[in-house]
Amino acid sequence: MSGLAVYPGSFDPPTLGHLSVVDQGLALFDRLVVAVAHNSAKASLFTPGERVAMLREALAGRDQARVEVDSFEGLLVTYARSRGATAILRGLRGALDFEYEFQMALFNRHLEPGLQSVYLMTDHRWLYISSTIVKEVAAHGADIEALVPASAARALAEKFRKV
Ligand code: PNS
Repeated sequence: MSGLAVYPGSFDPPTLGHLSVVDQGLALFDRLVVAVAHNSAKASLFTPGERVAMLREALAGRDQARVEVDSFEGLLVTYARSRGATAILRGLRGALDFEYEFQMALFNRHLEPGLQSVYLMTDHRWLYISSTIVKEVAAHGADIEALVPASAARALAEKFRKV
């Protein structure tokens, strides 16, 4: 595969599972835009700006000519079209993710038939983690440093110290 793919998500916060999908995506596509969604319907711990900053720091060691972090509001397909993307990239952990992802992929295809959704299996080491569970255990003081990039571990520690 070639061209540009958009990897959208909430990334609230980014986890090592997300970074694993980025690395796999970079092996398939020429360029990847990691796109943080402003989703007013979903309560988030971090602002879109904070999520972008965490991702930029986490991806600073990757080839900057091939990976970019951005944010978007509104429909994903509109954003993907504005970036000239040929594909939407998402990670799959297992059956629990499937129904939601299947619906989203078919809906996005309905909205923008030329845009393919590509799903990659998260590395097996991160099958059991999600941003939601990371936030929950971090809020209770558990050590999450082995599950998230350093930028997110620091931001979580700061967030929960302040609360
Ligand atoms: O990390 P998440 O929360 O599973 O990501 C979901 C996301 C941001 C990819 C999805 O909610 C999305 O695409 N939102 C933008 C609005 C949109 O296009 N919705 C229709 C998707 S069918």
